[in-house]
Amino acid sequence: MNIKTTSKMVSLSLIASAFLVGCGGSASVEAEVTPLNGSIIKGPIDNATITLKDATGRIIATTTSSKGKFQLPEMDVNSEYYTLESTNGNYEDEATKLPVTMSETQGLKTLLSKSEVEAMMNSKKTLAMTPETTIYTALVQEALLNGKDLNTAMTESKNVITTALIDGTSPLSAMPGDTFLNEGDFTSAFPEDQSESFARNRAISMSYMVRDLGLSPDKVFDVISKISEDLKDGTLDGVDLDGDGNDDNVTEEFGLARANLFQDTTTKLRNGELSEGQIAELQLMGFDTDRFNNGLVDSQKELDEEVQKYLASTTLPTLNVLPTMVDEDGNETDAQATYTLSANTDVNVTIETPDGSWVTPMWRYNNNPLPLVIRTQRGNAMTLNLDNKLASDSTIHWHGFKIPADMDGGPDIPVAPNETKAYTFTMDQPAAPLWFHPHPDMETGKQVYMGLAGVYLLEDNITKTLEADNQLPSGDKDTVLLVQDRRFDGAVGDAVRNLTYMDTDMDANGMLGDTILVNGSVVPKQEVSTTLHRFRLYNVSNARNYKFALSDGSKFTVIGTDGGLLDKPVEVESITLGAAERVEIVIDFSKYSTGDKVMLVSQPFNGDMMAMMGSMGGDANSRMNGDSGMGGDPEMNGESGSGMNGTGMDSMGSMEGMSGNGAGLSIMRFDITTDESESVTLYTELPAGAEIKTRHTADDTTNNGVERQFLMTMGNMEEGGMAQGGGMQQMSFVINGKTFDPNRVDEFIEAGATEIWSIRNMSPMAHPFHAHAIQYQILSRNGVPATGTDLGWKDTFLVQPGETVKVIGKFEAINTGDYMYHCHILEHEDAGMMGYFRVGDTGQLGVQ
Ligand code: C2O
Ligand code: CU
Ligand code: CU
Repeated sequence: MNIKTTSKMVSLSLIASAFLVGCGGSASVEAEVTPLNGSIIKGPIDNATITLKDATGRIIATTTSSKGKFQLPEMDVNSEYYTLESTNGNYEDEATKLPVTMSETQGLKTLLSKSEVEAMMNSKKTLAMTPETTIYTALVQEALLNGKDLNTAMTESKNVITTALIDGTSPLSAMPGDTFLNEGDFTSAFPEDQSESFARNRAISMSYMVRDLGLSPDKVFDVISKISEDLKDGTLDGVDLDGDGNDDNVTEEFGLARANLFQDTTTKLRNGELSEGQIAELQLMGFDTDRFNNGLVDSQKELDEEVQKYLASTTLPTLNVLPTMVDEDGNETDAQATYTLSANTDVNVTIETPDGSWVTPMWRYNNNPLPLVIRTQRGNAMTLNLDNKLASDSTIHWHGFKIPADMDGGPDIPVAPNETKAYTFTMDQPAAPLWFHPHPDMETGKQVYMGLAGVYLLEDNITKTLEADNQLPSGDKDTVLLVQDRRFDGAVGDAVRNLTYMDTDMDANGMLGDTILVNGSVVPKQEVSTTLHRFRLYNVSNARNYKFALSDGSKFTVIGTDGGLLDKPVEVESITLGAAERVEIVIDFSKYSTGDKVMLVSQPFNGDMMAMMGSMGGDANSRMNGDSGMGGDPEMNGESGSGMNGTGMDSMGSMEGMSGNGAGLSIMRFDITTDESESVTLYTELPAGAEIKTRHTADDTTNNGVERQFLMTMGNMEEGGMAQGGGMQQMSFVINGKTFDPNRVDEFIEAGATEIWSIRNMSPMAHPFHAHAIQYQILSRNGVPATGTDLGWKDTFLVQPGETVKVIGKFEAINTGDYMYHCHILEHEDAGMMGYFRVGDTGQLGVQ
């Protein structure tokens, strides 16, 4: 061992090597005296003192880092392993951009075996000190203390890290290159390879986690040692990272941090704020940056052209008015109402489009070719009969209703073929655009898709009064718009086209159709006058999100959400609705002249991150899988781009272009045909005392503000399913790690409780979260207090990747029993992204 090193000599050596590099390549030196380069990042750390020790703990050398880089002196490699430890130094925290000055007790570590050091020297690789290698070092040292041999200690520790901090935390779901790494120059602008990109992502994510936990940036070193402590027995047992007295799940917190970092990065990509190296890094991680950016531009261009075409078209069908059912008790004004819905198959529906029509056999209620509307009053005693004429079990779930569990129409109380059920309940909640749909176990998606769903407009004294006082458009200026995407077989021109359901592998991720139906027609038109018109805009799609906007960029006003009117109307340029979400909007057509036309569109947006992932296909898998550990493999670097457009992506690529989530879409057209002076002046604030005005705060909770946690994740069906390649992977969709079990109650809630639910999305796609029998209020998204339309009552709300949405709601004492919470992408729900919550009195709650 060369012990000639002092810090003076190290700096000489640094200067010498810088000089040699500077004078152009004659720097090659004899193999046995190759200095070893290192990078130290938690943010590139400047001025850290780095100590190199051999296996006996003897100090071999010390050196100092400069902007995250350091160089170890020339040395003979003859110790079984080496450890590197740092103290002091400073860096900029990646998550907060705050400067951090480290103390003598704050630092990073790594541990390298003799052969690792030799291999790095020979290949001129850079060794890396990161939060992850720090935890790793602690684990290896512990294992050595416990008498394990070095190889076992190292292998086991890598496995522990992989299980706890890598598997299940990857923002792009399990990617083969997302593996433990203790080498790489993490300070360089350009990553060497996929593994390095992921390792850097993980190192930066540590800062995000600390920020998300509400800790100051320098607490990252505490967090690192807490994780190390927790992992020393080989598993994560839960550890109180933020010091709030409750244990945190490190894998979850870290996974969310990684998803958050990924979201941040893609936002920067969209805004053109990423460097070339950062873009290269995203691409290496399997993200299709080209499609992400250009896809949006292209899609907007296509939409603009389509809008021009439809604005000029003379062949748009007329918007269907959805038929309102008649109260069977013959008295529309008594406090009770009866309706019967018979679910039928084989109802021939004519689909009108700008390019002609066709017939599609659908499943409908009461053989009506259109979805039905029930319009009723708050306080009415309802009798709603389901007559199931389908060949399979069905139910009717009353979506958004606060009603008893046995009347809720969940999958737990199926109605068999040719059976009937009377749903009886009294509506006691504010006026709202509610709806109903079948909810049988594992077949909800199909039955809704085939055409079974209806609208339930609940009115109350508040809405009646506002309408009578001309503060809310009503009558023929109050229109339901039911938006659904569907896929048909055959082609335009065929007389009959059947609905196709779940016919590609991708459909399991959420059934998307390329044809958008509005009240059953494609791009219909509606004649309007130069006044305020109110629309109840329903997203009754299985999986599609829309970003509704007017084609000329005009603003419109959102006056209500799922659960009723907004206290104060909110003017917007667009409104995004996930599956099952609704809004009431008011469009002011007074700025137009008769003869003008304007379209309702869905603007393109970057939808599923899933669709932006390059390595979903079989071909890309095998390539990524094979040699991901090989640094700078030119083939992999070169082809990761083509892989994204290559064979593996074809089905998704073409789907995406045509109709993927986020594609720009023409929805319908408004034809301004009549001059009419305005009689309505829209309310600016709801009358005092209106129930819908109430807003819960954390102080209202009945459980001291304890937040009930829900974590939405996606994973591969089989272990390593993706890495095994070959075709599309089957994804699993879970909440709190669990797939729906009809015999398991997941959450127990005291009747009458007011609770905060925290819903976190660690998966690469947005999920609309829904729970039965409750209307929530959104408190915050990623810690930012709710504003605007988020102030409305909600039974369904979108949770974006990496997002944590906190909601508060009251579980009414009358609503006891078992209810569902689930993702309202119906294919996710059918696949088990659902759970039960039981509302009961305390005595009941323990009983399962
Ligand atoms: Cu519309 Cu269980 O939901
Ligand atoms: Cu529901
Ligand atoms: Cu989902």
